[in-house]
Amino acid sequence: MRILTGIQPSGDLHIGNYFGSIKQMVDAQSKGETFAFIANYHAMSSGNGGEKLAKLTMQTATDFLSLGIDPQKSTFWVQSDVKEVLELYWVLSAFTPMGLLERAHSYKDKTAKGISANHSLFSYPVLMAADILLYSPDIIPVGKDQIQHVEIARDIAVKFNNEYGDILTIPEFQIQEEVQTVPGTDGQKMSKSYGNCVNIFGEEKKQLKTIKKIVTEQVALEEPKEYEGCNVYNMAKLFLNEAECIALQERYKAGGEGHGHFKLYLADVMWEYFRPYREQREYYLAHQDEVRDILDAGAQKAREVALPMIEKIRTATGIRY
Ligand code: ADP
Ligand code: TRP
Repeated sequence: MRILTGIQPSGDLHIGNYFGSIKQMVDAQSKGETFAFIANYHAMSSGNGGEKLAKLTMQTATDFLSLGIDPQKSTFWVQSDVKEVLELYWVLSAFTPMGLLERAHSYKDKTAKGISANHSLFSYPVLMAADILLYSPDIIPVGKDQIQHVEIARDIAVKFNNEYGDILTIPEFQIQEEVQTVPGTDGQKMSKSYGNCVNIFGEEKKQLKTIKKIVTEQVALEEPKEYEGCNVYNMAKLFLNEAECIALQERYKAGGEGHGHFKLYLADVMWEYFRPYREQREYYLAHQDEVRDILDAGAQKAREVALPMIEKIRTATGIRY
């Protein structure tokens, strides 16, 4: 079973990214053949570019390796290092009805927020279909926001296969129900665009400062407190086992401690949780050449899958003449 996913290099990674996506990817490495790439072309569609994009690409690659993407187990590369994806993007464009893209939520949402639409934002799902279909994966693990994109990839693949035979594998999306939306410091979904993130690799002091900002209900110190619905508890439980969760619930119920104490506890458990990853990151930051070598080797492996596929497509479509 081949599992494929992409992540945009769009900023510092936060714990919503980690529990909603990265951890699933890392865990998937023991379940099947995993393909993971940094979607740097995609990042251009939301205005990232220049030196910033180049830096973020390396930063995201470094962070992923530090968090457990294992190049021995996964094929891990940067999207733009396998150019054939752009060729497939064009071929698939010819199988993409305008209406399919006009209905895409991500485009509709962004334009509704006043972000001026350019062609890359509009055609983003076709590039995502190419990312997927070039590598014939069976499963695409996604957050809810990405389901429609995988459905679009399936629709495009079916249209292509109807014309040229069974060349493309029709992928399935997989959504992990137990992965809940991680709340941000204000209780909304944690997201870079809301400025409510607790980053994975921040400085300790800065992290504590962010955690102290988490919105909680006002209850006198000695009173018992509700853990259900508490943003601090909901974040802390991500890092805790069952017994530790129960112990924390007891502290809430007992009263005598304020949310400030629970915030300090959250900061501690989070700091400890990411300690080994932080150490790994220190290593990779000091050895960026090694990161580049890993990405080169990953692109090479990805190309071994992509080239026979694009050859088949060139022949079928008559581009090879
Ligand atoms: P952001 O909203 O910060 O821009 P992205 O859209 O880049 O984050 O998300 C990258 C991945 O992380 C996606 O798979 C998404 O589903 C997941 N993710 C982002 N925020 C959360 C969250 N608060 N809870 C769970 N998963 C999340
Ligand atoms: N669109 C995805 C996101 O914003 C990233 C992505 C690009 C992707 N290509 C992909 C995810 C292919 C899965 C498969 O999160």
